[in-house]
Amino acid sequence: MARPTSRKHHEALLAFARSIIARVDEGPVSRRVSPSAARAQIEERFDLEAGAPAEAVLRQVEDVLRRFAVQVTHRRYFGLYNPSVLPESVAAAALVAAYNPQEAAYGHAPGAIEMERAALGHLAALVGYDDDAWDGHFTSGGQEANLTAVAVALDHTFPTWRTEGVRSLGGQPTLYVAAEGHHSLAKAARVTGLGDGSVRWVPVDASHRMNAASLAAQMREDREAGHLPFLVVATAGTTGTGAIDPLLAIADLAEREGLWLHCDAAWGGGALLSPRLRHHLSGVERADSVTWDAHKWLSTPMGAGAFLCRHRRAVEHALAVESGYMPPPREGADDPHRASLQWSRRAAGVPVLAALATRGTEGYAQLIEHQTRMGAVLRQRLVAEGFIVVNDTPLPVVCFTHPKLVEGADESRTPGDVYRHVEDGGDAWLSVVTMPGGERTLRACITSYRTTEDDVDRLVRAVVSALDALDAVDAR
Ligand SMILES: Cc1ncc(COP(=O)(O)O)c(C=O)c1O
Repeated sequence: MARPTSRKHHEALLAFARSIIARVDEGPVSRRVSPSAARAQIEERFDLEAGAPAEAVLRQVEDVLRRFAVQVTHRRYFGLYNPSVLPESVAAAALVAAYNPQEAAYGHAPGAIEMERAALGHLAALVGYDDDAWDGHFTSGGQEANLTAVAVALDHTFPTWRTEGVRSLGGQPTLYVAAEGHHSLAKAARVTGLGDGSVRWVPVDASHRMNAASLAAQMREDREAGHLPFLVVATAGTTGTGAIDPLLAIADLAEREGLWLHCDAAWGGGALLSPRLRHHLSGVERADSVTWDAHKWLSTPMGAGAFLCRHRRAVEHALAVESGYMPPPREGADDPHRASLQWSRRAAGVPVLAALATRGTEGYAQLIEHQTRMGAVLRQRLVAEGFIVVNDTPLPVVCFTHPKLVEGADESRTPGDVYRHVEDGGDAWLSVVTMPGGERTLRACITSYRTTEDDVDRLVRAVVSALDALDAVDAR
């Protein structure tokens, strides 16, 4: 019998995760490094010919990870949807790496697969899917989940797609996503053989949400031109401004037109964990499929996206292939490789289960609501300092500018200048985003469950001092 691991062993794993998380906060959020300097450092530190003791190699690996990166788990990283990771999920990820379960065949890893299924079932129930009909699997991220959606929608709509491909369809299949939706859909269109020309980027309204009337008009125009509309993607939490498309209106339209409805809730899905916020995603339960990345707002390590589907077996129908080398299937269990774009796959959902089981429903709601509260504090502080908030979302992402900032050819006070100043200061990190009208603004998202009001104040101070510095340059 295998020797049981001791309690101390798991305490050590958690202590390791907590100490790294705490140590990241002690340093700067980022240090700029040129690609040539980073490359030179790697060449200097690692000798791939001679080899070296593992402890020495790991010391170098950690030092490189610490020095040459924007620290996305820092409390004052206000950047893209990259979270601070929960210690229990880091510890579980280390266990997964060490045991290395093979999830292609059910019989090889029933435990890991059932742990993942429990986590997925929890997410599917939060979406509002029927207990008996939902399906789902973990993906490498939102890109793979959105690609899966395109493949499944093609298979569902066009019976010959699977066997004879796009060339058999007798027209141009078209899919619809808001102009503010994620560009993973563009890649998905290329990979599935549809091409860029099949994607209709639907105009958005003043709140950066898909305009449902424009969607209807575009579909009508496409049908009149002989094209084949098959998929609408509604985004719940756009990457730039956190906008939530009008899910109910889009669901009505998709139903009327007989189109597959996919909801890209890669980040915004997190709101479903909060009883106070979940109503903002009302209608998501009508989507045929959903993208929901645990490695965004659920604060687990990278590589944990999820694809959820309202129709059992739809993914398997689209993707399953037969082979003579896999172990025979187990009675009452599906082999995961049949319903996933991946074959061998990391058990990235096990850390998600560890986090869900550690925090519980109430604990997760607190994490999500805390971040949303910090987003509201950030809005208030910015407005009090004379900034103008230019996006409109209940989620904690704030796009803002200042009357002193202008984007123009011969102006030197652009949002990009402020961004660079803040990054050079190293105390906080935020990004710059292009708004639907083409103008650039600053963007700050609360992505860490550890961000406090003091951290928010420090970000605002960093931005104000960047503006002051630009003033000082002008005065000279
Ligand atoms: C709305 C949305 N969809 C999809 C993606 C792609 O997800 P991933 O980076 O996990 O592939 C992102 C990434 O930020 C996103 O914001």
